[in-house]
Amino acid sequence: MYDVEKIRKDFPMIVNHPELIYFDNGATTYKPQCVIDALTGFYNDYTSNVERGEYATAIRADQAYARTRDVIAKMIHCETKEIVFLSNITAVLNQIAYGLSKNLKKDDTILISYAEHASNVLPWFRLKKELGVNIRYIPLDKEGNVILDELEKIFDDSVKIVSLAYVTNVLGSIQPIKEMTEIAHRHNALVAVDAAQAIGHLKIDVRDLDVDFLGFSSHKMCGPDGVGVLYGKYELLQKMEPIFLGGGMNARFDIDGNVILKDAPERFEAGTPHIEGVIGLTAAAEYLMNIGLDHIHAYENELRAYLIQKMLPLDNIEIYNPNNPSGPVSFNVKEVFAQDAASYLSTRNICVRSGNHCAKILHNLIGVDQSIRASLYLYNTKEEIDRFVEEVSKITLEETISIFL
Ligand code: ALA
Repeated sequence: MYDVEKIRKDFPMIVNHPELIYFDNGATTYKPQCVIDALTGFYNDYTSNVERGEYATAIRADQAYARTRDVIAKMIHCETKEIVFLSNITAVLNQIAYGLSKNLKKDDTILISYAEHASNVLPWFRLKKELGVNIRYIPLDKEGNVILDELEKIFDDSVKIVSLAYVTNVLGSIQPIKEMTEIAHRHNALVAVDAAQAIGHLKIDVRDLDVDFLGFSSHKMCGPDGVGVLYGKYELLQKMEPIFLGGGMNARFDIDGNVILKDAPERFEAGTPHIEGVIGLTAAAEYLMNIGLDHIHAYENELRAYLIQKMLPLDNIEIYNPNNPSGPVSFNVKEVFAQDAASYLSTRNICVRSGNHCAKILHNLIGVDQSIRASLYLYNTKEEIDRFVEEVSKITLEETISIFL
């Protein structure tokens, strides 16, 4: 039985600020007390670097840091050595693009979509500029879902990589990653998945999906900021060149410039990592797994359906993704600039994101540059949705102007 009131008590931001309605979970999530305790536990009791010290607190830090790899491997169903810690999903996608670029040449093709976040567009655009690769766009329906029947048609021998969000950050489409990967592999293309908006919202099984790479940020799944996870099939990680070189990732080097790197995953983790952030991620992952990703997903879907049902009758708004079963709801208030509507909602203690949400080529699909995004998570409630919808229904051009006077 999903007990949202019990869950809400775990989050100090909710307990300390009951007046706030936080519907900006696509940007970042609140942190439960257990994550905060993991961070302060490290600061208070065993602050030290990792993989460098022989003393007791350093060994304790080593063990806690290593345990996160085990826990995340269990969460997404892979081997511990296939988990790399970087700084966020942006770093992960840049690492993948950089690493794979070594095997690309002019006129090779990379498939992405109009619905991608900047971090899954710009690293590939750089390869277009530097190497002369082609960027081709995967066919999407008007709510951003991959049209599988048309996908096969855009493959040819030049396609080497498909890089796609699992759940898109504005329209919330859950893409058919498993089916898409099967098609891509039949055409000898590798598949990279941006799971930033999927992690912590639904169960992810990388073995079942058979993707080659997948990444996400800790802060979108109740964990600390500044930690990103890269999953890669081990044989691919072993062949991939790291972006960052430095301490911790090399086995040996000499005065002639000969360098021997460590094996994956260490070879990608140059320098002192975000140790406490990685340790905090264990607490977040265990917290979510204890509730159960399937339960969280079902509850979120129920909340979203409720939100859509309450919003559809409003005649002052236009919704861009009413039929998607999951993810954020993106909309505009007619005649009102999205940021002004979000500022109005802020005066009512409602937190949403507005603008282009870093998805700057999505307007090619939905026809608008700016929207308001309400993104829900495991601790939101139907009562909050009622208050939100009531406030949205009151937004007019005059109302938004009045808040600036
Ligand atoms: N990528 C985050 C978002 O979509 C910040 O809001």
